[in-house]
Amino acid sequence: MDDVHKTNAIKELKKEFETLTEGIHNKDELERLKVKFLGRKGEIRSLFGKMKDVAIEQKKEFGAGINDLKGFVERRLQSLLDSFSVGSSEKDNKNYCDLTLPGINFSIGHQHPVTQVIDDLLEIFRSLNFDVLGGMEIEDTFHNFDALNIHKWHPSRNAQDTFYLDPEHILRTQTSAMQIRAMESGKLPLRIITMGRCYRRDASDATHYPVFHQIEGLVVDKNVNFCDLSGILTEMMTGVFGKRVEVRFQPSYFPFVEPGAETFISCPFCNQKGCSICQNTGVIELGGSGMVHPQVLRNVGIDPKVYRGFAFGWGIERIAMLKYQINDIRLFYENNINFLEQF
Ligand code: PHE
Repeated sequence: MDDVHKTNAIKELKKEFETLTEGIHNKDELERLKVKFLGRKGEIRSLFGKMKDVAIEQKKEFGAGINDLKGFVERRLQSLLDSFSVGSSEKDNKNYCDLTLPGINFSIGHQHPVTQVIDDLLEIFRSLNFDVLGGMEIEDTFHNFDALNIHKWHPSRNAQDTFYLDPEHILRTQTSAMQIRAMESGKLPLRIITMGRCYRRDASDATHYPVFHQIEGLVVDKNVNFCDLSGILTEMMTGVFGKRVEVRFQPSYFPFVEPGAETFISCPFCNQKGCSICQNTGVIELGGSGMVHPQVLRNVGIDPKVYRGFAFGWGIERIAMLKYQINDIRLFYENNINFLEQF
């Protein structure tokens, strides 16, 4: 057998195989084709039989050629078999998708740490029988300032501190605005929480960000006092930190409360021994609170001789930073997945 014949025999057989595969429509036909080519008396075997006629120095190359063809035939038959295995109508569909294959697992997100703290707080206050109000992020200056006894000259009204949309409308700087609306509704007694985003024109640093969340509480009833406020705040913070904390007050000024107080809790991390979180003071400052100023009650038509109220307002990011020991508020808003996945 000369060179030409030898290579032709392999080529022709390959061509014949390819032509025959085009006429295959089912597994039976496929099986017959397999026997014809790969069977004991099949075409490829008989090609190996021709080896004895090949010149000794060409045997190696001829053998390798047949082996290549054999591999090609096997692979082709297998892929045809695979395509028949998915059912005849499905196999024609190029977009066929095997629904029984295990899927790819996508990592499921989870709640943002600030949202987790909000949910914790909501649960605590619902269990204390508070109603929860959301409110609008765009407020008018009456509800955000005037009704809260914040005078026209108060620095917080300054355009450098507040985002003004027009002279009468702003992005609310505190959720207290919503408390005015609740009192205006005239339904007393009141026992509410207002929660949501607030905006201040603060340059951002480790503890300030122009947008943040506040939680404020307001109780208006005939006989409420500072002890009730203290009790509610103790419950709130004990719930957040999962261990008993004490609340302490230090006199402070807020135009809408009198007396007003800066509120502290005993450091839940060191049992007041002093640590880096409380800066060795044993206490942590959390926010403002106090008895609602009689003028605020009058502003919304409530008689301060009959009703009294207490209120508190704290930043939720501040609580979340303490709870999770995060030292930079900006981390909450950078959407860095490595940071967020830790909670
Ligand atoms: N609204 C105040 C603030 O944003 C907080 C506060 C609420 C203080 C209620 C006292 C009483 O700073």
